Amino acid sequence: MSDKNVTIFEMGPRDGLQNEKVMIPTAQKIELINRLSETGLTKIEAASFVSPKWVPQMADGADVLAGIHRNSKITYSALTPNLKGYERAKAANADEIAIFASASEGFSQHNINCSIEESIQRFEPIMELAKQDGIPVRGYVSCIVECPYDGAVDPASVASTTARLIALGCYEVSLGDTIGRAKPDEITRMLEAVLTRVAADQLAGHYHDTSNLALDNIQASLDLGIRTFDSAVGGLGGCPYAPGAKGNVSTDAVVQLLHKLGYHTGIDTEKLASVSQYILSIKQQIQASQQ
Ligand code: HMG
Ligand code: MG
Repeated sequence: MSDKNVTIFEMGPRDGLQNEKVMIPTAQKIELINRLSETGLTKIEAASFVSPKWVPQMADGADVLAGIHRNSKITYSALTPNLKGYERAKAANADEIAIFASASEGFSQHNINCSIEESIQRFEPIMELAKQDGIPVRGYVSCIVECPYDGAVDPASVASTTARLIALGCYEVSLGDTIGRAKPDEITRMLEAVLTRVAADQLAGHYHDTSNLALDNIQASLDLGIRTFDSAVGGLGGCPYAPGAKGNVSTDAVVQLLHKLGYHTGIDTEKLASVSQYILSIKQQIQASQQ
C-alpha cells in the first residue's frame, strides 16, 4: 500500500447517531448507510449491539443491518461489548465486530460498567468465538489523553491497553480522544508511547472535535505514520457516557484535508457532501416535528 493511501472508517451511523436524543427512524439509518455506500468509503460502522437499556438509539441494529444494500467492497462493522452483543452481531451478519476498552478506569466503569481488567476478561471469549467464526475484530481504546472522570491519562496506560487488545487478536486498534480535548503535542506523546509496543499500520486515530483540534491531531498522527482515521459524516456524534464531548471529526473535513495534503482516500467529496446534507436535514426535520 502506498504511503499516501489513507483509509477512512466512517462512524456516522454508530458513533454519530448513538447520542441523538430524538430517535432516528430505522429507515433513515438504512438510507444513510446506503448513501454512504456510494461515496467510495470502504469501512462503515453500521450498528452497535450494546444493551438497549444503556443506548436506546442503537436498539434497532439488527433491522439496520438487514435493511441495507450491501456493497461487496465495503466492510460493515458493529460494536459489541459482551458475548450477548457478539451473538447479536453475528446473527445480523456484521462483516466485522469491534470490542471497546478504555485507558482510564473511570470511563471504563461509566461506559461498560466494569474495570479495564474485567473488560479484557470479558473480551477473551468473544475473541475465541470470532476466530472460530472467521470474523475480524477491531479494538478501541478510549480516553487516550484525557478522561471525563479521571482527568489526564498516562500514555503508558494507553500503550499497555492497546498492546493487550492486539495480543488478544485485534487486527487494529483505534485510539479514541473520546472527549475531543487533546492537543497535537499530546497526541504525539501518546502515539510515541504506543508505537514502542504496536506498529503504526495496526493503529487508527479516532478524534472527537470538541476543541476544533481534531484535524491538527490527524496531521500529527500522519507525521508518525498513522494511515487510518475514524470520522463521521457531517461531524455527527458524541458518547452518552462522555459528558461534554462533541461529535466525531467530520469526514468531509478530513477528506478535504487529506486530498489537499496529497493523500488518496478514494472518496468522492461531492457525493459525501450530499450525504452530509441529507442526514443533517433529517435531524432538523425530526427535531422540528417534536417542538
Ligand atoms: P450491565 O448493566 O452491567 O450488564 O451493562 P448486564 O449484563 O447486567 O445486563 C443488563 C441488561 O442489559 C440485561 O437485561 C441484559 O440482558 C441486557 P435485563 O436482564 O435487565 O432485561 N444486555 C444486552 N442486551 C442486548 N445486547 C447486549 C446486552 N448486554 C446486556 N449486548 C453493558 C454492561 C456492557 C451491557 C453496558 O454497560 C453497555 O451496553 N454499555 C455500552 C455503552 C455504549 O454503547 N457506549 C457508547 C459506545 S463506546 C464509545 O462511543 C467510544 C468509542 O466511540 C471510542 C471513543 O470515542 O473513545 C468507541
Ligand atoms: Mg467515539
